[in-house]
Amino acid sequence: MTAMLRIIRYAALGLSVILLGAGGYLWWQRGSIDPAAVVGGLTVAPGVSLGGPFELVDQTGRTVTERDYRGRYMLVFFGFTHCPDVCPTELQVIAEVLEKLGPRADRVAPIFVTVDPERDTPEVMKAYVELFDSRLIGLTGSARQIAAIAKEFRVYYAKVTPPGASDYTMDHSAFTYLIGPDGKFRALFRHGAPAEEIVRAITAGLPAA
Ligand code: NI
Repeated sequence: MTAMLRIIRYAALGLSVILLGAGGYLWWQRGSIDPAAVVGGLTVAPGVSLGGPFELVDQTGRTVTERDYRGRYMLVFFGFTHCPDVCPTELQVIAEVLEKLGPRADRVAPIFVTVDPERDTPEVMKAYVELFDSRLIGLTGSARQIAAIAKEFRVYYAKVTPPGASDYTMDHSAFTYLIGPDGKFRALFRHGAPAEEIVRAITAGLPAA
């Protein structure tokens, strides 16, 4: 490759990163949120709304909606069971959050939603979530149901097949969402946020243990 071609390639890459960043920022700007209700984690632009109604299937095969978890905090993470790295790490953090909460963990519905419903059947989800914590709830559904909840939580996901790979993998955003017992958005945590930070956000709204 000539030097010029290389420069053009890097410039194009740089530009696409800038455009992706700007696009992502504008994307976060839509919707509506009460800033007073936000209790920790990342700062979300005023006016952004995250979460909403859904209908999915849990790891026991039962149809569930957001109403099944009303009255409890929902700690929600999106991923897929074939994920080599990010998802297992984050689910480990969520298991740690439950452990640190002690008896107060029963005020929280820890939810793992798959973005790969094609492979992640309720049976697959059941076996997977049990690896981390028996209290974890694994939700799957039709492609359409998953697309609907992903849209509400502004989750990015896409099927990709790396060159030379025999099977596909999923690209996905990796935030953890805290929804209040009233169903309203409370906090957004980046991938890698320590369990303590999430515990603080949850206990801010709970009576002392
Ligand atoms: Ni993942």
